[in-house]
Amino acid sequence: MEVLIVSDPAAVAKRCADIVEAQIATMPDSVLGLATGSSPIGLYEELILRYRDHGLSFADVTTFNLDEYIGIPADHSQSYRTFMNETFFQRIDIDLSRTHVPDGMAENPLQVGPAYEKAITQAGGVDLQILGIGSDGHIGFNEPTSSLRSRTRVKTLTRQTLKDNSRFFGPDEFQPKLAVTMGIATILEARRILLIATGEGKAEAVRNTVEGPLSAFVPASALQLHERATVVVDAAAASKLQLREYYQFVSELQDDLVKKHRPSDWISR
Ligand code: GLP
Repeated sequence: MEVLIVSDPAAVAKRCADIVEAQIATMPDSVLGLATGSSPIGLYEELILRYRDHGLSFADVTTFNLDEYIGIPADHSQSYRTFMNETFFQRIDIDLSRTHVPDGMAENPLQVGPAYEKAITQAGGVDLQILGIGSDGHIGFNEPTSSLRSRTRVKTLTRQTLKDNSRFFGPDEFQPKLAVTMGIATILEARRILLIATGEGKAEAVRNTVEGPLSAFVPASALQLHERATVVVDAAAASKLQLREYYQFVSELQDDLVKKHRPSDWISR
């Protein structure tokens, strides 16, 4: 796994935007896997700026979001579809019909997963998957003990996740306890993965992901099985990493190469 440690959330956003921009420059019709939550907001803001000011175009990009709540309509203020439309899609030149979020209002939620998997396959698979991480190490809504072979399906959220996300719902507002989420095996099929974590609250989850044992108890640790997974963290989220200095050393070497306009991808991780 590659670990890039940068100073603060703004630097995380820029570094991740560089990777997304390079992906689109190489392949304008890329398929991006996208995430919600606060972690990727800075990245989306940075990409919007590059679209507005530097001609970065999403016109041929297709997207698949990781997850959606069950039981609130797509146009609900707290649905992940609304989040994506407002935070990102409506502010770039993407064709909305190429953006996919699992259907949280399907008559039979059990059928949503297989249909979503089929759509991903038909689009050619995900080229670059963006991930945040829950404080308990979940990715998407794959809560601890999710099968490492899981596919897109219905999951019940943990009390911790419900508590973490309750800040988005009003005191008397219905907060869904179920969600449809891409599975861990689905996520691992992406050709490249970028996990974003900032702040001290994520430090333990980051340590367990990068340096802990591979375990369904920390779903993000499954990224250890991926050939091209990059974790981009700020100093606070990196604070509990045992080999922090080594990751910093690799990051500095990479920065140096990028400055010299040389490809840095050959550096072994
Ligand atoms: C939710 C989302 C995850 C996200 C996580 C962390 O549970 N389903 O995809 O990574 O929240 O959110 P935040 O980035 O706001 O900490």
